[in-house]
Amino acid sequence: MKADPAPLPTILVLASGSGTNLQALIDASRDRDFPGDIVAVGCNKPGAFALERAAQANIKTFVINHKDYGSREEFDGALMAEIRRHNPDLIVLAGFMRILTEDFVRAFRGKMLNIHPSLLPAYTGLNTHQRVLEAGDKVHGVSIHFVTEELDGGPVIAQAEVAVQENDTPDSLAERVQQQEHVLYPIVVRWFCEGRIQLASDGVLFDGAPLSQPMRLPAS
Ligand code: GAR
Repeated sequence: MKADPAPLPTILVLASGSGTNLQALIDASRDRDFPGDIVAVGCNKPGAFALERAAQANIKTFVINHKDYGSREEFDGALMAEIRRHNPDLIVLAGFMRILTEDFVRAFRGKMLNIHPSLLPAYTGLNTHQRVLEAGDKVHGVSIHFVTEELDGGPVIAQAEVAVQENDTPDSLAERVQQQEHVLYPIVVRWFCEGRIQLASDGVLFDGAPLSQPMRLPAS
């Protein structure tokens, strides 16, 4: 008798909005050789389209509505309890637009990734596309990083560049950045599930060696 194959690392995705990054991960996970299993999708906004995408893929969903909680701590406590029920190996923030408390981040240290629409450390926070255009930058992009207590400040694993065009608007730029997001996030999640990336005390280890600079996809 053949031994059962080892179970795949489990992934829980948190989203707040349309969920195009979630969709890219769902699509990637349909590959027979994808090394992870998306076991649940959580959302802080009832009615977000990300929930619909998950349901269509037969993935369990839950909603913890931040408006039902009086403080960030209470919201994070409820979210943490729900995540613990699923006990995932990896938490993927995919457009999850809530600032998380330090306790929450510490509880899942080294197991939580975030995608941010800029070439970090440039442009942490919101409205990145608009700010890049206002600054007259020629190159913009996306970063995927381990989540640490510092907002958008955890060690960056990978980035993809996007050339800014003369007639770009925040929307046109966002669209091209998102195209890169949908390529890059599945790659990085795959690395995590294969055990190739780890959060160390002072940065990222890639295949066991310190990563001196983020991995880069070439400019599009
Ligand atoms: C993505 O562009 C992601 O980079 C951004 O939200 C969008 C979510 O889109 N995240 C942040 O701004 C985090 N600070 P999606 O719901 O279609 O995946």
